Amino acid sequence: MKALVLAGGAGSRLRPITHTSAKQLVPVANKPVLFYGLEAIRDAGVREVGIVVGDTAAEIEQAVGDGSAFGLQVTYLPQDAPRGLAHAVLIAREYLGDDDFVMYLGDNFVVGGIDGLVDRFRAERPQAQIMLTRVSDPSAFGVAELDSEGRVVGLEEKPEHPKSDLALVGVYLFSSAVHEAVARLKPSWRGELEITDAIQWLLDHGHRVESTVISGYWKDTGNVTDMLEVNRLVLESVEPSVRGEVDAASELIGRVVVEAGATVTGSRIVGPVIVGAGSRVRDSYLGPFTSIDRDCAVVDSEIEYSIVLRGASIVGVGRIECSLIGREAEVTPAPRVPKAHRLVLGDHSKVQIGT
Ligand code: TTP
Repeated sequence: MKALVLAGGAGSRLRPITHTSAKQLVPVANKPVLFYGLEAIRDAGVREVGIVVGDTAAEIEQAVGDGSAFGLQVTYLPQDAPRGLAHAVLIAREYLGDDDFVMYLGDNFVVGGIDGLVDRFRAERPQAQIMLTRVSDPSAFGVAELDSEGRVVGLEEKPEHPKSDLALVGVYLFSSAVHEAVARLKPSWRGELEITDAIQWLLDHGHRVESTVISGYWKDTGNVTDMLEVNRLVLESVEPSVRGEVDAASELIGRVVVEAGATVTGSRIVGPVIVGAGSRVRDSYLGPFTSIDRDCAVVDSEIEYSIVLRGASIVGVGRIECSLIGREAEVTPAPRVPKAHRLVLGDHSKVQIGT
């Protein structure tokens, strides 16, 4: 079995972060979300991984390399534009050959890994196996209709009137039968080759498609809210460790990681929190579910339930919550007079200002 990891895409929901970097590399507890997926694939016993890459190919390749750091053999498969999940399968045809494969969306997070799903596929050998989860807004997803026995009978991509609240998510397993389906697809109304249409083709042609309904085991990190939630989930189980310097005037409570080379002075940190290597926290409060990446500065500020990317600085600004702060961003107070906000924001930035 091989794996096909999708790490291209537009990432429009995570702008402006994705204007300058790949969304699959946004860190969760200071580790790129993609790495958790690669580790899950390895732990399921798969070694050969094709990674589909788009505009951010160079950055992904620099982060993952040849895959040996993960115990994997990685091959990069360039996609000229985000033309759909099934298009990614189409361009991977030669790489995949006639092997079974697990398709994994590179910005998805499956809590507890994928061993169970892969084992079930290996044991039951359907032509396709999909993962479903109940969602409150099914019209934003590919939606599956099941019969009374729980077998998949139909699929629709982002339907206006969904027939169920079961959305297809994150991880798909296929036999080589999917290639015939993909080769016959036409672009959908949104101009993409849809994987739901490929699976529907398999159903229409008498192939067996199994599904697993999971609850609470999956998150798409494609938007900020879910990204913060995944960060919370992962931080909840980090092992506390202090390898950096924490002065006597500081207090660490709960699960707190201070990486080597980080300094914490005159501050209070209530975990779970991670402070990355080379970062500086001074006269500040860091609250639960906060990840500070490496080489950041948090000075005379309070920050909670947030992700701060590499090299950002937050100085003298009171309290920040539920925020994703990009690389090298600077957050500082405005002069007192005139009473005005001064902003230099990237395209598609979102700022909420307390009045
Ligand atoms: P999505 O999150 O569905 O698509 P997107 O990246 O275009 O994001 P947005 O909706 O915010 O614009 O994609 C799921 C994963 O698959 C993600 O890691 C990107 C990847 N992908 C590809 O590699 N190629 C593609 O053609 C598409 C559509 C997605």
